[in-house]
Amino acid sequence: MELKGNIAIVTGAARGIGLGVAKALARQGAHVIALDRLAEELEQAGEQLRSAGSVETGILDVSDAEAVRARVADIRGRHGRIDILVNNAGISVKGDNGRRIPFLSSTREAWDTTLQVNLTGTYEFCRAVIPGMVKQKYGRVVNIASQAGRTRPEFADTAYAASKAGVIGLTRSIAEEVSQFGVTANCVAPGRIDTPMVATAGAQANALYAERIPARRIGTTEELAAAVAFLASPGSSFISGTTIDVNGGYFMT
Ligand code: NAI
Repeated sequence: MELKGNIAIVTGAARGIGLGVAKALARQGAHVIALDRLAEELEQAGEQLRSAGSVETGILDVSDAEAVRARVADIRGRHGRIDILVNNAGISVKGDNGRRIPFLSSTREAWDTTLQVNLTGTYEFCRAVIPGMVKQKYGRVVNIASQAGRTRPEFADTAYAASKAGVIGLTRSIAEEVSQFGVTANCVAPGRIDTPMVATAGAQANALYAERIPARRIGTTEELAAAVAFLASPGSSFISGTTIDVNGGYFMT
């Protein structure tokens, strides 16, 4: 129960990686505020979340800056502090059969939508939460990036790759400034993880992908959540501004 007494926000927590992270943090004793824009899926996840520990759920679109600021103020007002922020909500616009949309067919609309959720949503949450962490001289920020923001984006479109590389740059910039106040900011970069987002590619495509991973399989949300939980814990105090790759060895630095 290493996170006992911690107040944690997890975005995009209704399913997939966010749900896995919310459960992992709750199991370790944190009080988790699980946010998502999908009301129905959040409702369905409610039982799983509550059986993991102390969890409250809330409907929120991270691309709505006003709503983000109001929600953070509400959470701080009710709980007095926020110790952990996991920016996980993300989208990846796909073409037919879950295929990558080529840059040469890309649209400004898809670019704006993707950047708004993946990068600006992360910025807004960081901007709203981190001042309080600095004041309390403790905080753990974990931003979910992607392998596509680290290396050759084979499967993701231009906007997604740019947004995730942006998340890594944003995180480094925050770490540069706030690490001196006991606040760490890091990224976790998932490779292929078994979630509804990845399921859109189809079983055959995922099996072909798995053959190319040294671990010969795609990852689980639990495996991804374990890395996030470590970075969210007091024990990771001297790690800041870095990215942990969780990809079964697919991409090595
Ligand atoms: P998913 O699509 O299964 O789940 C994402 C969750 O985020 C959903 O519950 C969705 O409703 C929520 N969400 C999306 N836009 C939102 C918004 N504007 N406001 C609030 N909630 C919103 O995706 P998955 O696979 O769990 O991905 C989670 C994160 O991990 C994303 O940031 C994604 O880019 C990243 N990632 C996932 C990989 C994978 O293999 N699954 C690989 C690399 C990165």
